[in-house]
Amino acid sequence: MANISKIKGKSLVEPEDFSVEEMESLFLMSEKIEKNEKYLRESCRGKLLATLFFEPSTRTRLSFEAAMLRLGGSCLGFADSGSSSAVKGESLADTIRMAASYADAIVMRNPKEGSALLAKRYSYVPVINAGDGGHHHPTQTLTDLLTIRRLLGKIGNLTVGFCGDLKFGRTVHSLAKALARYEKIKMIFISPKELVLPEYIKTILKKRNVLFEERENLEKSMPELDVLYMTRVQRERFFNEDDYIRLKDIYVLNSDKMSLGKEKMIVLHPLPRVNEIAVEVDSDPRAVYFKQAKYGMYVRMALLASILGVK
Ligand code: NCD
Repeated sequence: MANISKIKGKSLVEPEDFSVEEMESLFLMSEKIEKNEKYLRESCRGKLLATLFFEPSTRTRLSFEAAMLRLGGSCLGFADSGSSSAVKGESLADTIRMAASYADAIVMRNPKEGSALLAKRYSYVPVINAGDGGHHHPTQTLTDLLTIRRLLGKIGNLTVGFCGDLKFGRTVHSLAKALARYEKIKMIFISPKELVLPEYIKTILKKRNVLFEERENLEKSMPELDVLYMTRVQRERFFNEDDYIRLKDIYVLNSDKMSLGKEKMIVLHPLPRVNEIAVEVDSDPRAVYFKQAKYGMYVRMALLASILGVK
């Protein structure tokens, strides 16, 4: 196992802040937690986690809070920027300095790209990026990689399809960047022209010699995929409601499309799902998005225990 103490005190702003070995150590810890509920229990007693959510969240915030509470620690924070001094005009730098004075680590979600990096610069304690605008979401990536590793037994030698809003979907940007560090990963990016993957991510993939293709058709891509990563069209990041309405239901994964996929394919989704996966798909054993959400709590437990240096 890699040296966990290397993660102690570290911030996680973007997927490459941790090495592949450090992530692997978190996955091993997560699997231990899954097998043994008592593992790491109480290991964060006396520690405080600040959860600062300037944007809506269900899974990320609740799974961080559940993770910290299961570790025996405590949480403080806000789930709505309207209840923080941001509405009075306080700068992010000042809010972060306050939270860092009270807590041992900060988890923050903010609509501005780059906000997590700024928070890290001003914080006296580790900062975990829970989503900075349409940029990155590295703890969702830990969740996604753990799900792939846990259910397919490896992260490598796989064809991964990303479908939906690849322009604004921060979970896609982070996962593509992270997967680029693994062996023999082919990526297929399926989106309408208006929602293609940002150029800076494509540049990273090209530099790493990652095999990738951009397509518009989901059906035709289905038979090739080992992993299908579905995403929601990110309404809140559109400039124009008409464009959102035109594009929102462009891909709907249903049983017919699932019948074109491999028997061992898995379907991931960071959630929330809107219309892009029909409810009928939920009962297909290849639909693993609810399991994925649970793995998210385990990997956040491993992350917090490691960052806070109790393990
Ligand atoms: C994602 C996010 O916030 O980027 N949700 C999550 O954290 N699980 C995906 C989304 O909102 O579509």
